[in-house]
Amino acid sequence: MTQAPPTATAPQPLDDLAAQVAGNEVVPVLDFGSQYVQLIARRVRECGVFSVLVRHDIPVDELAAMKPKGIILSGGPASVYEQGAPRCDPRLFELGVPVLGICYGMQIGCELLGAKVKNAHAREYGGTSLRITPGSQSPGSLLSSLPEKTTVWMSHGDQVQELPPAFIPLAATNTCPVAAVKHKDKPFYGVQFHPEVTHTPHGVEILRNFLLNICACEGSWQMAHFLETQVQQIRQRVGNSRVVCGLSGGVDSSVVAAMLAKAIGKQLTCIFVDNGLLRKNERELVETTFRGHFDIDLRVIDASKEFLGDLAGIDDPQEKRKRIGHRFIEVFKHASSDIPNAHYLAQGTLYPDVIESGHGYSGAAANIKLHHNVGGLPAELGFELIEPLRSLFKDEVRKLGQVLGLPEQLVWRHPFPGPGLAVRVLGPITREKLDLLRDADEILLEEIVANSLYRKTSQVFAVLLPVKAVGVMGDGRTYESVIAVRAVETQDFMTADWARIPYDVLATISNRIINEVRGVNRVVYDISSKPPATIEWE
Ligand code: XMP
Repeated sequence: MTQAPPTATAPQPLDDLAAQVAGNEVVPVLDFGSQYVQLIARRVRECGVFSVLVRHDIPVDELAAMKPKGIILSGGPASVYEQGAPRCDPRLFELGVPVLGICYGMQIGCELLGAKVKNAHAREYGGTSLRITPGSQSPGSLLSSLPEKTTVWMSHGDQVQELPPAFIPLAATNTCPVAAVKHKDKPFYGVQFHPEVTHTPHGVEILRNFLLNICACEGSWQMAHFLETQVQQIRQRVGNSRVVCGLSGGVDSSVVAAMLAKAIGKQLTCIFVDNGLLRKNERELVETTFRGHFDIDLRVIDASKEFLGDLAGIDDPQEKRKRIGHRFIEVFKHASSDIPNAHYLAQGTLYPDVIESGHGYSGAAANIKLHHNVGGLPAELGFELIEPLRSLFKDEVRKLGQVLGLPEQLVWRHPFPGPGLAVRVLGPITREKLDLLRDADEILLEEIVANSLYRKTSQVFAVLLPVKAVGVMGDGRTYESVIAVRAVETQDFMTADWARIPYDVLATISNRIINEVRGVNRVVYDISSKPPATIEWE
């Protein structure tokens, strides 16, 4: 609460912004540094209205050029009364379009229009009960159709405390007298709480009321429109150059490749590195989809020998990641060096990757595991980056994949870590261990799919433990490997719970793995949540 936030939304040329939004009903979100700022844009898109993030100090004529149907001011960690606190251009209230301020956004809007914001005696963090002022739920209003009492998510230490007569308070909590407000003459609305988070059960209704009733948006925007705009932008930016895209077989890079193929066709070259750490049939799936279905110039580089050579005898997980990361850069550099006229590198960076790598708004994500899929690669290779998914969340990317006509199998794929099976064969890696794990993993996934559990779980995989166990098969004693089965359910992969796979399915998985995979005599099920465990075992 003490200093102005360094918001990460970089200035964008006016042409870019106007082009991005052309032909769409748009409600931009001014970024004051809230950790939820992308979530607001995403909720707006879920209501069928296109949204982009813009800097909080965007000049008002640039905003006007976007022909916005409304404007949202995000939350942020600063205090409006501090020196240097981020402010928006006050002329935006004269544009004649409705403005909704959320948390800090409400405070800055109220202050610019004459109210006083002060440090509150009681800070509010978490769920709290909101009481709506009688008469404030009338049809067409911001709080229309909400119950008189509802839970909202608060996160603030400042409050609007002196409200001039030009404002109408709409709701309060026990400690916050102005929890929702509107201006009598200007089209300004504010909420002190966060309607964009799921902990505010009626939050989406409030946003929908703002967008559809107050801004009079039609709400007909769809992912297909996002695709069209991105395709246009990519074409304009790339011109006659070639674009290189690293395909991993996961959803994100597949969607990027399909999108680029649509935009620039034969000017795209995809590189798929077989590092010897892939799941069974992974390379074939990528080849069939992208060479066959999308007719893309796909280069498959078999570098398994090099990767496995680097990993020989290594048991430390972070060291495995480091070596894989370095080798990947080497192989990719070599593979991309002879592509003529290639100036751009397309990457499937998603919004959560931006946040988790510490490049995002909060900037403080703990480095629990070395993730090498963000950063590192581009600067070394000297390409300019194209990251068309940078503002999207995973489920939005899947929607985009469907619009692009990617096979279901790819669109709904569980995530697979960059270091692949190297972090699932615990301890030192050998080809034999990898083969054994691949066979066990294939059976596990077959059973998960056959029992309609794939879409109900977030990630399912097998792990080869670095111990042997005693068993008995026929009349003989065995001393063989142990496979652990990991299945988790999660929204964001930051926290996760183990999936309650039915016992009979677990029984079939165990029977099949022990009977069909030579060298395994025991299967165990991992019942640890994250935290304190992580999803991967290494
Ligand atoms: P953890 O194990 O950190 O996993 O709970 C969270 C998610 O990240 C994936 N993961 C990785 N992805 N490189 C990646 O690209 C990595 O080094 C890596 N480590 C974990 C993991 O599969 C899960 O989806």
